[in-house]
Amino acid sequence: MEQVTIERLGHQGDGIAPGPVFVPGALPGEVVEGEIADGVMVSPRILTPSEMRVRAPCRHAKSCGGCQLQHARDDFVEDWKTGVVRQALAAHALETEIRPCLTSKPQSRRRAAFSARRTKKGALAGFHMKGSDVIVSVPDCLLVDPRLAAALPLVEALAVLGASRKGELSVLATVSLTGLDIAVSGGKPLDATLQSELADLARAHDVARIAWGDGVALTRRPAIQRMGSAEVVPPPGAFLQATPGGEAALLDGVREIVGDAAHVVDLFAGCGTFALPLAESARVHAVEGDKAMTAALDKGWRMAQGLRHVTAEARDLFRNPLLPDELARFDAAVIDPPRAGAEAQVAELARARVPRIAYVSCNPVTFARDAAALDYAGYTLDWLRVVDQFRWSTHIELVACLTLTDR
Ligand SMILES: C[S@@+](CC[C@H](N)C(=O)[O-])C[C@H]1O[C@@H](n2cnc3c(N)ncnc32)[C@H](O)[C@@H]1O
Repeated sequence: MEQVTIERLGHQGDGIAPGPVFVPGALPGEVVEGEIADGVMVSPRILTPSEMRVRAPCRHAKSCGGCQLQHARDDFVEDWKTGVVRQALAAHALETEIRPCLTSKPQSRRRAAFSARRTKKGALAGFHMKGSDVIVSVPDCLLVDPRLAAALPLVEALAVLGASRKGELSVLATVSLTGLDIAVSGGKPLDATLQSELADLARAHDVARIAWGDGVALTRRPAIQRMGSAEVVPPPGAFLQATPGGEAALLDGVREIVGDAAHVVDLFAGCGTFALPLAESARVHAVEGDKAMTAALDKGWRMAQGLRHVTAEARDLFRNPLLPDELARFDAAVIDPPRAGAEAQVAELARARVPRIAYVSCNPVTFARDAAALDYAGYTLDWLRVVDQFRWSTHIELVACLTLTDR
């Protein structure tokens, strides 16, 4: 048995003691005791608990691998996430005003990626256990919208119908305005029998749509998401912001940064989360790599009333970023890239000198790299806000304001 004192929280949410020794579930300042193997204390006993420690609110927290930080107070997690962003910026000699973090409510995640397997008695659906491929059922999950937790029997029924004997089914369940939108992967090939069984199941559970593998197996009602005043039917499994509250907070930040810009470019636009609400007051050009998503955005705009003109372009912005002559007409840019960031597109935004940039990021490291490139080109990082739509996890999301200043 060894005793160590935790110095800091690592990026995966483990406590880290000098060595380094990684201690899952431990918080900074805590003295812990246990066996250490390969730099990890596997079953630590907490000798002096931190004031930041709370009893995990969810009864599944011990076994379920879905959440990593239920044992810490919200204000501690908010400070930690803000600190991770501050450190990433400091690595590029950047600092800025960091506004108070906004954390999404429990039970507000609009999407769950469930796993399911057939068992001798039927099927088991839920999330993976921590660091394992064992599935734990999570009927009282406090993270996801209750309509998703209530869908576990449906997910099990999908596994009974369509999982292979030993394989695991992945079931992405999303809350839509018209009912659950389900996208299944890893199942048996879709044949006529399975198709008709899925139709019965969808009727019994009043599901809006089921996609199976690469195709849509059935649509009972269009699976609508509201984006501003527009109604959009995203392709199955398409990117959506994680919580309605997080999306609203990001959009508030984006609106503030874009201000009264008359012509906005939305880069990595998805299905129009920002483009369509911004079109209430500006003309918007939305660019996104996935053709089906730009088609959904375009259709949503065409069916909506009272929006300014929106154009949607499918384009790979890593290989083929918008160039300065294409960017010259815009007063503001919104950019919300995947985790890799947007190095190539940011270089062109800097060359084009688009006056205002709203940068939404899910990765502080690539965000800081891109912000540093903009800083070098004459932009000021005016402020940023961490929007914690990934409550109880180590994921970090932020919105940042960059404006061109003559220095
Ligand atoms: C973080 S999401 C943001 C989507 C949208 N802004 C929203 O809030 O719903 C990133 C988007 O970038 C798209 N994407 C990924 N790689 C891309 C690329 N190389 N070129 C253009 N778009 C890409 C993804 O399809 C996804 O829709």
